[in-house]
Amino acid sequence: MRASLRGRLTVADGPEGLAKLAASRTEEILEAAVEGRGRASLALAGGTTPDLVYRRLAARARSGRVDWSRVEIFQGDERCVPPQAPESNFRRATELLLSHLDAAAVHRMPVEEGANRAASLYSRLLEERLGRPPRLDLALLGLGSDGHTASLFPDAGGADGWAAPGQSPAPPHERVTLTHRTLDLARSVLVLVSGAAKAEALIKVARQEDVPGAHLAPERLEWIVDVDAATGLAGLARTEMFGL
Ligand code: 6PG
Repeated sequence: MRASLRGRLTVADGPEGLAKLAASRTEEILEAAVEGRGRASLALAGGTTPDLVYRRLAARARSGRVDWSRVEIFQGDERCVPPQAPESNFRRATELLLSHLDAAAVHRMPVEEGANRAASLYSRLLEERLGRPPRLDLALLGLGSDGHTASLFPDAGGADGWAAPGQSPAPPHERVTLTHRTLDLARSVLVLVSGAAKAEALIKVARQEDVPGAHLAPERLEWIVDVDAATGLAGLARTEMFGL
């Protein structure tokens, strides 16, 4: 059977178009969760691709459709660096988004405890806050040029629990990450992929090659990519175009 990308793929006309669509989808999902169950849970992606999405969500925090006081925010992964270090995902998310919101709660990965202890503490926190098994309403993810997602890297082997230590080939090497189990339990996962440097990784995912991004299997999986990242996908995925 010819491989094809699992989930729904939308191609935006560039980073701005990607951010507009991703922010809108994030708000839709969180609004529906709050309306349906009185609260929502969101795990943030690390890296730089979400920057424009976070800026957009922050700009709309007061006037938009999401009651952030009902939203608990988690991290999808974190580098084992101090929270104020430039490489910290938490620092980046705080500057771009979290400092502009009154979220119900923000749960930082306690990486100062070391990757192993931080992962077990975060696994316990996920159960405390979301139940067992912990089901996020939405996880935002990026995709690395090697096909990694969150801090789940190729050849890393499976990990038990809801969060686990991770080892990145590129520094900062020590990481903490949500596991595939936790990501697959999420009611929705949005993967944001921008730029020509990710085109090859996206083709590997579409071909179901053995890279972490290809193993994502949540209830609802959406890929929001821009045209530069989508080159080479023709014939490998049914594509919806946005803003083109
Ligand atoms: C991290 C991220 C990682 C990221 C991808 C894409 O901590 O680095 O969680 O998984 O999403 O590496 O990174 P960019 O968005 O910076 O290209």
